[in-house]
Amino acid sequence: MDKGAPNIAILGAGVVGLTVADILQKDLGKANITIIADKFKEDTTSAVAAGIFRPGTSFRGATREITQKWIDDSWHYWQDILKSPESPNAGVMAFSSYIFSKDNYHVTRNPFIENLVPIYRPVQEAELKLCGPGWKYGSYFTTLKIGCEKYLPWVERRFVDKGGRIVSDKVDSFTSLRQYDLVFNCTGLGAKYLCNDYDLVPLRGQVIKVKAPWLKTAFYGDYDTYIIPGLDGVATLGGVRQYDSYNLQVCKHDAAAILERCCQMLPALKKAEIIAHKVGLRPHRVPVRVEPEVIGGLKVVHCYGHGGYGVMCSPGTALNAVKIGQDFLKSNIKNKL
Ligand SMILES: Cc1cc2nc3c(=O)[nH]c(=O)nc-3n(C[C@H](O)[C@H](O)[C@H](O)COP(=O)(O)OP(=O)(O)OC[C@H]3O[C@@H](n4cnc5c(N)ncnc54)[C@H](O)[C@@H]3O)c2cc1C
Ligand SMILES: *[C@@H]1O[C@H](CO)[C@@H](O)[C@H](O)[C@H]1NC(C)=O
Ligand SMILES: *[C@@H]1O[C@H](CO)[C@@H](O)[C@H](O)[C@H]1NC(C)=O
Repeated sequence: MDKGAPNIAILGAGVVGLTVADILQKDLGKANITIIADKFKEDTTSAVAAGIFRPGTSFRGATREITQKWIDDSWHYWQDILKSPESPNAGVMAFSSYIFSKDNYHVTRNPFIENLVPIYRPVQEAELKLCGPGWKYGSYFTTLKIGCEKYLPWVERRFVDKGGRIVSDKVDSFTSLRQYDLVFNCTGLGAKYLCNDYDLVPLRGQVIKVKAPWLKTAFYGDYDTYIIPGLDGVATLGGVRQYDSYNLQVCKHDAAAILERCCQMLPALKKAEIIAHKVGLRPHRVPVRVEPEVIGGLKVVHCYGHGGYGVMCSPGTALNAVKIGQDFLKSNIKNKL
């Protein structure tokens, strides 16, 4: 490490923190970068996600243009990995999806990605019958997904191989960070406690992982119903979206409702073996917070509050945060701690 190279800490080892670390390392070859977190890999919220690239309307940056740029930049970042031989190791895969509704045409559309993904089209009459009777509206689209069970270990290894440091620790105050020139705050819902950020709210999710190697296409229905094929033949069935719930226990009533809704769409799932039930709290904030702040003389770039879209949008927000961080490093605000 060069003398005088900036000393940078990234708080958080979920998909957001690790992707910030990866992009930062690429951009600032000489920095001394340390990731500090108390949870890693399968213990993070990121590991619960299906990782679909399909933004919802609750995903917002400060402006519509910023949101679209995050989404576009993220798409290109994942496309680069997808087109490389590393894609299976990184857990990035292309796939296609149907989205159906019995009562709302608009939920089957997605203005954020309709001009970005290779195919986004209304379904034909025959396709409306793929998931039993009663579906009135539908779209078919191609997109990609990121399996965090592979992506997190892959990007973490790449970071360490290039000289990054990882520290397992819970950060309770800023004083422990005084040796750093710059800190990225990628603590997800943890930011609620660290920063008393009342705009940050958990949106509880629960999913069922089942063995369904025959499933090649994803299906979305009304009321947060989704069936997502995955890596290694394991599909994710969901879901729920419970505002301001901190319950990390598996709820048997949620599980029963999810199973019933998914089996109604695809009866073959009744026979699928259940591997696991999982719960995660999406760090929901409108807008997602990507901005600089000087806290007690310490230069901090916040990057948290990605709600249900943190996996797909981590690269776009990370590029934005890293750019802010570089300008911040050059600015002559003094560390006064
Ligand atoms: C059921 C479900 C389905 C989802 N589906 C999708 C999907 O299809 N597509 C999609 O894009 N997103 C999806 N998401 C959302 C996605 O999981 C989140 O947006 C994303 O994981 C947020 O990542 P993060 O890195 O900010 O947070 P986390 O993964 O929670 O990581 C936070 C990190 O910060 C660390 N940390 C926090 N506080 C401290 C502290 N004080 N000291 C030290 N370390 C600290 C933690 O240890 C951890 O390493 C889903 C979520 C759920 C629950
Ligand atoms: C990198 O940063 C860590 C944490 O501040 C520090 O302990 C270490 O000495 C630094 N390494 C170099 C080579 O500067
Ligand atoms: C991270 O952001 C949260 C929310 O504002 C804040 O409470 C916390 O202090 C921040 N942590 C750091 C190290 O900046």
